[in-house]
Amino acid sequence: MKNILITGGAGFIGSHVVRLFVNNYPNYHIFNLDALTYAGNLENLEDIKHKENYTFIKGNIVDSTFINSLFTEYQFDAVIHLAAESHVDRSINEPLAFVKTNVLGTINLLEAFKGTWELDFSDKRFYHISTDEVYGTLGATGLFNETTAYDPNSPYSASKASSDHFVRAYGETYGMPYVISNCSNNYGPNQFPEKLIPLFINNIIHSKPLPVYGDGNYTRDWLYVIDHANAIDLVFHKGKNKETYNIGGFNEWKNIDLVWLLCKKMDLKLERYNGTSKQLITFVKDRLGHDLRYAIDASKIKNELGWQPSVTFEEGLELTIDWYLQNKEWLNHVTSGEYQDYYEKQYT
Ligand code: NAD
Ligand code: TYD
Repeated sequence: MKNILITGGAGFIGSHVVRLFVNNYPNYHIFNLDALTYAGNLENLEDIKHKENYTFIKGNIVDSTFINSLFTEYQFDAVIHLAAESHVDRSINEPLAFVKTNVLGTINLLEAFKGTWELDFSDKRFYHISTDEVYGTLGATGLFNETTAYDPNSPYSASKASSDHFVRAYGETYGMPYVISNCSNNYGPNQFPEKLIPLFINNIIHSKPLPVYGDGNYTRDWLYVIDHANAIDLVFHKGKNKETYNIGGFNEWKNIDLVWLLCKKMDLKLERYNGTSKQLITFVKDRLGHDLRYAIDASKIKNELGWQPSVTFEEGLELTIDWYLQNKEWLNHVTSGEYQDYYEKQYT
């Protein structure tokens, strides 16, 4: 039995990764460490919470004393690190929170992992989950690949870039086995409705304005969250030591085109006249330092590990919309309380 620590497992991507590992690997004991910030929600894991190979631990990765004692107690064989502050808009308002969790929190985990295994790192692995945003912005053409120079523009991407560098530094300096993956924008069930797709689904349900930043001509590369979780499974088990893998959907959309498609699909689902949701689109003040375009070249993970997305964007969007419409209670829970204050501050 291996003890695997997954951090941030109550969040959006983390909950899908935890479910996949708990269900597919009975020979692993999965420890889900999460501080349950506004983005963490144990409702995401109701279906697996009683499994024998699963333990939830509430705790903060910024607390080094707590982290060290946890590693001493459980001697984790591997770490899959997803815990992070993850929203660019929040990072613009509160950069220090991103430095604390994303930089300091990562270093605390690295130190504890090193402290546990530095005499013999064999069969051990620290897997750091990162983002394509560390590469900065693309112009109209080109793709990010694994050798693209880091050039982060937002406090969020700067903090993620910093954490990536520290993981690499522990590999080079202390011989700590690691692997890193940098993924494009995810969407799917359980995403907190502060990110574009779930925010707009929620607003359409409530006939609220859809705040498109700037002229809407910004481009993102979208990947269904389960396809990201499958890629994480592959990289964890088959990825080469000290390597980086870029993960993306080969699926670029201009924000405004994506929003039009979403509006059309929501009208159909909600049995509203075609064009009803589109009328909610409101162009608002642009995000500061807004990156123009992200697009991933995912050929390395495709060619070396045989990964590819399992659903098209249209299929993934259908699954996502259906999930939110069938889980209105989840939406209501996460949008009560703190969410209202955030929304007021961000959009009025
Ligand atoms: P999320 O915001 O939905 O979840 C983050 C989780 O981390 C939450 O459960 C939260 O409670 C927990 N957390 C936050 N601070 C913590 C702390 N100090 N200690 C312990 N737990 C803490 O994020 P997500 O979208 O699921 O992203 C997960 C990871 O994947 C992040 O590292 C993010 O940078 C990366 N990533 C996200 C995307 C995306 O599109 N969402 C794309 C590429 C990479
Ligand atoms: P987001 O989902 O926040 O992801 P990221 O900033 O990490 O790419 O935003 C995706 C795109 O949508 C980005 O170009 C910003 C834009 N956007 C809006 O136009 N309005 C919004 O209310 C939000 C949250 C995002």
